[in-house]
Amino acid sequence: MNNPQPPLSSRRDFLKTSGQIAAASALAGVSIPFVHAASSETINIALVGCGGRGTGAAKNAMDQTGPPINLVAMADIFEHRMKGSHDSLKRALPNNVKVSEDTKFIGFDGYKKAIDCLKKGDVAIFTTPMAFRAVHFKYAIEKGVNIFMEKPVTADGPKSRLMLKLNEEALKKGLKVGVGLNSRHSRALQELHKRVQDGEIGDIMLMRGYRMSPPIGSAFSEKYPGPDNNLPGKPTELQWQISRFHSFIWASGGCFSDFYIHHIDHLSWMKNAWPVKAQALGGRHYRDNYVDQNFDSYAVEYTFEDGAKLYMDGRCMIGANQIYSSYVHGTKGMAIAAKSGDTGLPSSTFKGQNPSKSNLIWTSDVPKNEVESHFNEWTDLIDAIRSDKPFNEVKYGVEASVVTSMGRMAAHTGQEITFDEMLNHEHEYCPNADKLTMDSPPPLLSDKDGKYPVPTPGLKKGKNWQEWYV
Ligand SMILES: NC(=O)c1ccc[n+]([C@@H]2O[C@H](COP(=O)([O-])OP(=O)(O)OC[C@H]3O[C@@H](n4cnc5c(N)ncnc54)[C@H](O)[C@@H]3O)[C@@H](O)[C@H]2O)c1
Repeated sequence: MNNPQPPLSSRRDFLKTSGQIAAASALAGVSIPFVHAASSETINIALVGCGGRGTGAAKNAMDQTGPPINLVAMADIFEHRMKGSHDSLKRALPNNVKVSEDTKFIGFDGYKKAIDCLKKGDVAIFTTPMAFRAVHFKYAIEKGVNIFMEKPVTADGPKSRLMLKLNEEALKKGLKVGVGLNSRHSRALQELHKRVQDGEIGDIMLMRGYRMSPPIGSAFSEKYPGPDNNLPGKPTELQWQISRFHSFIWASGGCFSDFYIHHIDHLSWMKNAWPVKAQALGGRHYRDNYVDQNFDSYAVEYTFEDGAKLYMDGRCMIGANQIYSSYVHGTKGMAIAAKSGDTGLPSSTFKGQNPSKSNLIWTSDVPKNEVESHFNEWTDLIDAIRSDKPFNEVKYGVEASVVTSMGRMAAHTGQEITFDEMLNHEHEYCPNADKLTMDSPPPLLSDKDGKYPVPTPGLKKGKNWQEWYV
């Protein structure tokens, strides 16, 4: 468990890793079918989840150099979201957007129809909220297409184990699968990872991640206004919960899983290990009128096998100090990993524990065309597809999701939670994600006041998680 898949620290390391996966497949007697798009072929993409990130990911794909990458199908549960995404992509890339009225699909089953528009070697993009990741992944594997899916990948034990199981088939088929933990494709963080592995700052003792800002996305929600609402798309309560997915654990893992996973992932990557356990504090202030399931403050202490610590502080609060950066402390020096944001440049290393100019050892200098890690993750995926190199980020995508959920669960229950407990526990937030229709009730029902269950650390004790909802 505590041996994360070798991180893709650089192209050179990536090739080494690829070789290991290929060798492992060969040893297992598994034949890898030839499913890659030849280097000169057009690659088609289908977008499932046409929101902010989906539109960005499709653009990142079509902006790649080389033979064309064309968007041929789109799926969403809201007409207005698809229209917004389609119109902006068509304006930006008129020659690459080849979606007709016949290849736009609205509804929970739209993903199947969109994937059916692809051929082997093409890529399905999954940028809905997390709840649907395993459903979409399963069908794409059956259809033998490559995949790019956003983080987080899971929020509970059953879905984490399912994703790892499904991935065995993806590996057997030789499908290329990218997961949107874009830190791993930051050229600065890749070089920092190499420098840390080479001992530039000594042995890692402590890491710190901070994402503290006013409330963002849909982290805070007021009551569902009822079926006769005037909201865009006139959402049912299910559709409304999905459109406010950061508010609901079943949909996204809540703001903790959705917002803090990047720092947790890239800091663990620097250590080449996952934390084995977590304990945490969290609380909810001034929020009587809100119905979401999130705390507004989280402070998680993760512990690694060797006793090293990772502290992740998250806060959604107006008027409080804002910090959004990450740090690594070793026995000889320290590093700024993300200077601002999830992967913001530059990354740097320093002698000692003070990041002063006089202590500077190295600061990243990334070529202009590789500054954007969301773009780089597509460069790396498309390169693997065109040259048929093994490329599969699911294992570390799931493990990063488990570690993130472990921190959230520690805060929400007030208990110490181990990696193994988080991976192996039985409670599943949305077991019927594959059966939802436009008329389904939401998986999480409100009480008579329109409120949903919120975490109550200390009030429920023991390890009987099946009976705990948040
Ligand atoms: N890697 C990153 O930096 C990054 C940044 C932003 C978002 N994300 C991730 O991307 C995902 C989407 O986030 P977003 O900000 O784009 O949200 P969004 O609400 O803007 O977009 C989500 C879209 O998915 C659609 N959708 C929901 N359920 C669907 C279903 N079952 N089938 C088809 N469409 C469905 C929604 O209607 C919406 O259009 C989240 O998992 C989020 O964590 C990652």
